[in-house]
Amino acid sequence: MYSEIKVGILGLGTVGSKVAEELIERNEYHSAKSGNNSHLSLKKILVKSLNKERSYKVPTELLTENENDILNDPDISIIIEVIGGEEPARTYIEKSLNAGKNVITANKEVIAKHGKELKKIAVNADKQLLFEASVGGGIPIIQPLINDLAANDITAIRAIINGTTNYILTKMSQENMDFTEALDEAKSLGYAEADPTNDIEGIDAAYKISILASLAFGVDVKPENIYVEGITKLTSKDFRYAKELGYEIKLLAIARKDFSGNLQIKVHPALVDKESELASISGPDNAIEFTGDLVGHVTFSGPGAGPNPTTSAILSDLILITRGNFPSSYKINNDLLATPVLLPMESVECRYYLLLTTIDQPGVLAKIGTIFKKNGISISAVIQKDTQVSKGTAELVITTHTATENSIQVAINEFKGIDLIDSIKSIIRIEDN
Ligand code: NDP
Ligand code: HSE
Repeated sequence: MYSEIKVGILGLGTVGSKVAEELIERNEYHSAKSGNNSHLSLKKILVKSLNKERSYKVPTELLTENENDILNDPDISIIIEVIGGEEPARTYIEKSLNAGKNVITANKEVIAKHGKELKKIAVNADKQLLFEASVGGGIPIIQPLINDLAANDITAIRAIINGTTNYILTKMSQENMDFTEALDEAKSLGYAEADPTNDIEGIDAAYKISILASLAFGVDVKPENIYVEGITKLTSKDFRYAKELGYEIKLLAIARKDFSGNLQIKVHPALVDKESELASISGPDNAIEFTGDLVGHVTFSGPGAGPNPTTSAILSDLILITRGNFPSSYKINNDLLATPVLLPMESVECRYYLLLTTIDQPGVLAKIGTIFKKNGISISAVIQKDTQVSKGTAELVITTHTATENSIQVAINEFKGIDLIDSIKSIIRIEDN
């Protein structure tokens, strides 16, 4: 005797279409995984427009434009939210939980901004709110973090957690592809957000690191408090010089806890050693490296975006719920989540890569050296290249030893007041370890 578990999907775009296809075409397979003689049945799908031409055709009787057909249907016990964006997704998740439904979401924006409140609603309703797909696409990361790494005091997370930007950076680095062309490819392959600004400006990665940091450090990190810099200012010259210096350029999301428990959380492009594990992550793949007091370094890597990997994570959450053996740690008491002490970006330390155009005259390097010395910055390497004799300018690439963000910013401001320095083309942080 089977028990029927009815599922409603909110959204039928890139991800929702694949989830629906799996639940329609391979229903028996996924039902069998659910155990307990339960049988999954897709009852309704919310779309914005019934008339839209869709690549995967679902039976029309499954579609609705009215969210209440799903949220108010007592037969539907599990909701899969794949609309994306803050609203109406957040409201629909809240209504679903309050209506006694379990919720699975791929929505990092909603979890990053409202996760604490929504988890509390889920606990009060004795329902599950699962979000494995919200970080790392198909890479199992939320479950391993809260279950398999539970014994560890996590002190650092370093991650490539945006597939679109990693795809773009890989294409720019390996094929000299133009930024816009690479972005267009990422969009057509279904990696990018509906508005890719969130991808290329680092906002999507900030949502994801805020989710990971909140779980890893037991704090409530709001994404607006994270320092964020995207990849739009990188140029082909940066890739060329980075390679010459032995680096690749990656968009990194970094969260670290110091001995006093203060947190440093930031998203920005970074030069990483070309022999490192992070440098080898290519295309839409993601990698998340945790440092724990017991485990040491552990890295999870794999497909970070795209409909199939994301559907893998969503359906795994679905199977977990139907099995009824979801981890008790999801019922975390949110009242215990502290507000973190975040270190201001100015006091964060790292090494830097600078690309300057200077007037090709004696004394330039001495002047730069004087300003660095005054600000306590020590030069690690200098390359002077591409002297344009006609214009009398030269390109100067400088890498520094560890310095504070504040000292670099003060030095850069002083450079701006010097006639011998024509322009400051790039400032990229170097992430050595
Ligand atoms: P899409 O933009 O492709 O799809 C969104 C869907 O939601 C569409 O079917 C749309 O309807 C529907 N929709 C939008 N607004 C409304 C509304 N107001 N009411 C009802 N339905 C609405 O998004 P994706 O599938 O790419 O992403 C979905 C979620 O998954 C996002 O949170 C995203 O961040 C997340 N995600 C995406 C990954 C990816 O690789 N793409 C990977 C991991 C997570 P209609 O079709 O009628 O326009
Ligand atoms: N737009 C996101 C990315 C989808 O490119 O990583 C996966 O969350």
